[in-house]
Amino acid sequence: QELEMQLEAIEKGGYDHFMIKEIYEQPQSIRNSMRGRIDLNKGIISLGGIREYEQKIINAQRIIIVACGTSWHAGLVGEYLFEDLARIPVEVEYASEFRYRNPIINENDVVIAISQSGETADTLAAIKLAKEKGATIIGICNVVGSTISRETHAGSYTHAGPEIGVASTKAFTAQVTVLSLMALSIAHKKGTLSESRFRELLVELDNIPNKVAHMLESDKTIKYISDIYKDARNFLYLGRGYNFPVALEGALKLKEISYIHAEGYPAAEMKHGPIALIDEEMPVVVIATKHGNYEKVVSNIEEVKARNGKIIAIVTEGDTAVKAIADHVIEVPETEDALSPLLTSIPLQLLSYHIAVMRGCNVDQPRNLAKSVTVE
Ligand code: G6P
Repeated sequence: QELEMQLEAIEKGGYDHFMIKEIYEQPQSIRNSMRGRIDLNKGIISLGGIREYEQKIINAQRIIIVACGTSWHAGLVGEYLFEDLARIPVEVEYASEFRYRNPIINENDVVIAISQSGETADTLAAIKLAKEKGATIIGICNVVGSTISRETHAGSYTHAGPEIGVASTKAFTAQVTVLSLMALSIAHKKGTLSESRFRELLVELDNIPNKVAHMLESDKTIKYISDIYKDARNFLYLGRGYNFPVALEGALKLKEISYIHAEGYPAAEMKHGPIALIDEEMPVVVIATKHGNYEKVVSNIEEVKARNGKIIAIVTEGDTAVKAIADHVIEVPETEDALSPLLTSIPLQLLSYHIAVMRGCNVDQPRNLAKSVTVE
């Protein structure tokens, strides 16, 4: 027993929990997801695992992304990336719904299955079904040699390293990194991005690990904010565009490990329902970075403030407009809109972590949840 505890302490490398260790590993794990895949001098992306199928993706009539949980949220970011950059229509499906819906799929479809463990039963069943119908199946898995990675025609591993904490953190940012690489590479080859724009985005993607490292320096501020709101009973998370999926993921993280009820919404949908919930007891986390409908998000914040809600805003460094009205701000480095989820997801992971620890929850092994769900 004693020995086991000592071994675990060593594995945690000085951190209190695996989750916080994994959050802090992200500058490195994102770097590892890109390793050997970006050549800045030549201005190319090479994803060896999907090379033979690249033409198939370029010609795809549509892409269907299937996944569960956090991986499904990464899939939603993928939808914005592929549609925006490569101009390919994308549908993102919960694997569990897709498999039972008699879906319309054919040989011209490309299905991307995203799974950290590579063992999720519903995701596996969804790709088997799509394969039977003749679609091309591309995998984005973290665990090398996992069942899903073997069942797909081709794929790219995320290379985030083992993720122990049940709540997914570094695997999510690695999935988003690989999706960014794929979408950029396909867009480049398809000609939907100009050479100069492609290079700009490539340079920025390559620089993201440094910005994530810088982002982690806000941890003290986030801990301070966590202490103020740790006893809240509900949380709302709002984002738009590329940061809408980040809002969903932020809410999921809080639910999973702190057992606080949280909902993520596209900011503009607030007026169609959730606004009724807002009062002085309701913290609202808003992703309000520059780009991506910034002015519109600012007016969403004003709507919350008018109803005495508390605003925790994720803003771009140097922001002034949101700072003037929000109760708290957490700054993230300036980046391209398309890559912003890689930065904005980090403070939300930290917020849920600190709140869960302060509430005395078992962060690494939350009640009722499993790291990998191999049953229906
Ligand atoms: C479980 C885990 C989640 C994960 C989901 C999908 O619910 O608790 O963290 O996002 O499964 O897992 P996968 O391994 O397929 O990404």
